[in-house]
Amino acid sequence: MKNIITKNLVLRPLTLDDTNDVFDYSKNKNVGPRAGWKPHETIEETEVIMETIFVGQENIWGIEYNKRIIGSIGLIEDPHRQNDQARMLGYALSEDYWGQGIMTEAAKAVLTYGFDTLGLDLISAVHYPFNLGSQRVIEKCGFLYEGTIRQAEKIYTGEIRDVKAYSITREEFR
Ligand SMILES: CC(C)(COP(=O)(O)OP(=O)(O)OC[C@H]1O[C@@H](n2cnc3c(N)ncnc32)[C@H](O)[C@@H]1OP(=O)(O)O)[C@@H](O)C(=O)NCCC(=O)NCCS
Repeated sequence: MKNIITKNLVLRPLTLDDTNDVFDYSKNKNVGPRAGWKPHETIEETEVIMETIFVGQENIWGIEYNKRIIGSIGLIEDPHRQNDQARMLGYALSEDYWGQGIMTEAAKAVLTYGFDTLGLDLISAVHYPFNLGSQRVIEKCGFLYEGTIRQAEKIYTGEIRDVKAYSITREEFR
């Protein structure tokens, strides 16, 4: 998998050497829960996540900024769609870097990669209704709002949440 270079970022495959950086932002209680995952309590938890979800996975990138990994972004399987040429965009960023346009820059680059390099037909995205920062990233990338899937996800606390669902086709992106 190739690195994706943008104006300010390098999107690159994660390795186990990035575990400390990933733990640094994943232990923050404001990050994971907004995406439905539990904040990491120990570096060992991060190590397991690195091994099972991040390292060696196609189409999941670490977001490198000033030589540090400050987040991740990926095109993952969409549980709501059966088209092999559809993927779902997911991302998380260290709170230290919110509000600087970083995720919008990363997401636009990953959309370009998804459509131009992977030849995808459609990319989807979802966020919880309260997650207005993620909503803005999705809007700024040009996604079309499809609707709210009520009671769509059970998160790690057992709570059931609605998700707002969006998608963008290759034609719309161009
Ligand atoms: C969502 C997240 C990735 C956004 O990253 P980011 O780099 O801060 O995003 P950007 O700076 O590119 O854009 C954020 C936009 O949301 C806006 N925003 C942020 N918080 C907001 C709020 N509470 N209410 C309204 N708008 C908000 C910002 O003003 C900005 O919009 P603007 O450019 O029109 O001013 C980051 O907050 C994050 O990692 N959150 C925790 C994990 C998560 O939510 N993952 C996504 C799950 S769907």
